[in-house]
Amino acid sequence: MPDRATSRSSDHTSYVLVRPEATGAVVPTLDDDQQRVVDHAGGPMLVLAGPGTGKTTTLVEAIARRIEDGARPEQVLALTFSRKAAEQLRDRVTARLGRTMSTPLASTFHSFAYGLIREFAPAELYESPLRLLSAPESDVVLRELLAHTPESVRWPSSLDHALGTRGFAKEVHAVLSRAREKGLEGPELAQLGRDHDAPELVAAGLFLDSYLTNLDAQGATDYPDLIRRATLEAEVHRDQLRARLRHVFVDEYQDTDPGQVALLRALAGDGRDLVVVGDPHQSIYAFRGAEVRGILEFPTQFPQADGGPAPVVALRTTRRFGPRLLVAAQRVAGRLGLPGTIDESAREAFLMPRSGARVEGRVVVRTFDTERAEAEHLADLLRRAHLEDGIGWDEMAVLVRSGRSSTRGGPRPPRPRRSRPCRGAAHRPARRPRCR
Ligand SMILES: Nc1ncnc2c1ncn2[C@@H]1O[C@H](COP(=O)(O)OP(=O)(O)OP(=O)(O)O)[C@@H](O)[C@H]1O
Ligand SMILES: [Mg+2]
Repeated sequence: MPDRATSRSSDHTSYVLVRPEATGAVVPTLDDDQQRVVDHAGGPMLVLAGPGTGKTTTLVEAIARRIEDGARPEQVLALTFSRKAAEQLRDRVTARLGRTMSTPLASTFHSFAYGLIREFAPAELYESPLRLLSAPESDVVLRELLAHTPESVRWPSSLDHALGTRGFAKEVHAVLSRAREKGLEGPELAQLGRDHDAPELVAAGLFLDSYLTNLDAQGATDYPDLIRRATLEAEVHRDQLRARLRHVFVDEYQDTDPGQVALLRALAGDGRDLVVVGDPHQSIYAFRGAEVRGILEFPTQFPQADGGPAPVVALRTTRRFGPRLLVAAQRVAGRLGLPGTIDESAREAFLMPRSGARVEGRVVVRTFDTERAEAEHLADLLRRAHLEDGIGWDEMAVLVRSGRSSTRGGPRPPRPRRSRPCRGAAHRPARRPRCR
């Protein structure tokens, strides 16, 4: 609501509409590295940065700059991985610009993909709306299909004893997930099996095919298939989409898989404006001990219009914890390495962050024989902190590597409400409970 200012003259009162002060967030004073990202004139750019170095802040400022420079909000697309993160990104941009926007602007890869399919797929192909199965739902379909393995799939006889066990279903699920993360479809997986004389992979490839056919018959899809379908649509309607979405941003880029990279390439490849930020050390691939792909290949996967590799900027001031926690985090992260073709100065800057926070912090390492013992110990610590030190539940956080580990093993810690444990949170501070 505009404020009302009045000025009184002798015989009448006049009203002047005054624009309210922008309620926008305070604009942070960016450091030089952050400023380089915001000043980036266009084209692909990779921003490498550790936890709490201001990645999302930089992204928000870069988006705000595009809009202040004249881009319409609907020409900007910011992608991330969780609904919560997308909402926060949108809220931060809205607050920063001090105005609401009619466009979603920030979206998860999956909801963006779903929107693309709804927009472009021929109506007769999806007579009723495509049903997106959650991960547990697709797991049920997979298990049921496995229990009545289709005739077309012949598992090698060496697996006879395993068929029908939960462990086998879990293994099949894992193999299919890995294959699909790498962009392999059923026939390609089967071919890989033939090429490497691995009959179990041949069977897994045929099984993947029947699984997808089964989903089709139900008018359903799962997450990887959704991205694949959206990519097909994006490739067909590339020019139209590129004309519409001029500036694309991705937060948490380290979590992209090859399917999502293919979708991005259709949207924003060929040297278009694409700024991605991420932390290779938080990559699930790094933690699995595998090669850190994806993010470190960005400069060559998304070259500039002249063919040169995309520029890389490292943010090097971590603002969330003091020097002591920084050293501890670096010692762990340093062992993960940083393979790839990132240029030397960016690599060095990323590997040698400095602390911009004054808090000291304390690191304690404990190991437990069982998950239950670990959970009990944590619950006890939290209760003591609450009862003896008067720390509010909403000031605590238990940070774990996956949502599953937060509910496994032993009793749950007492309700640290609002401190939902979150993925990739190992580096987060103990007193900032909010999850992305
Ligand atoms: N230039 C700056 N000056 C002061 N504070 C800053 C600056 N940039 C970011 N911050 C603050 O640092 C904190 C972390 O910022 P932000 O959430 O953007 O980091 P991030 O790298 O995205 O973190 P995460 O690893 O959790 O994704 C926030 O409180 C933010 O306001
Ligand atoms: Mg962030």
